[in-house]
Amino acid sequence: MERIAIYPGSFDPVTNGHIDIAKRGLKLFDRIIIAILLNPGKQSLFTVDERLEMLDESMSGIDNVEFDTFDGLLVDYAQKRKANAVLRGMRAVSDFEYEFQLALMNRKLNREVETVFLMTGLRWIFTSSSIIKEAARFGGDVSDMVPPGVNHRIKARFGF
Ligand code: PNS
Repeated sequence: MERIAIYPGSFDPVTNGHIDIAKRGLKLFDRIIIAILLNPGKQSLFTVDERLEMLDESMSGIDNVEFDTFDGLLVDYAQKRKANAVLRGMRAVSDFEYEFQLALMNRKLNREVETVFLMTGLRWIFTSSSIIKEAARFGGDVSDMVPPGVNHRIKARFGF
């Protein structure tokens, strides 16, 4: 049976930390579906199409990843895609409480879907889309935290 994981998130935008998690996940799973939550209530820097494009560009050399969007419950989407697990990255302790809540709520909603946490590489411990956007907004250099194409788009978006 093919082992499939859903790697869900906002990916606004994709960072080197996300790519690191996807690559690690591919050692455990045959296929990873990177799925962007369609969330009109959350303000984003990039449109869903732009985020999908950046994911596609950034992972062009990596086999067995696909990109998709979903709305509604993650566990319903996971079941629909016949995934065995949800993959999430864990950085510092600060991630733990939210991730723990999310995983337990997902388990309560559907006991068939397991959550697998992977530790990011140490160099990405402090990398998050939010902090990258915050720095880049004021002209900060984030070029070593995101793929080159993403860096280019962030700079253009903020007028640098
Ligand atoms: O990268 P993010 O924004 O922290 O990802 C959060 C995400 C998309 C994984 C989470 O918000 C999610 O799965 N939302 C879908 C609705 C859902 O199933 N929520 C969990 C149970 S209430």
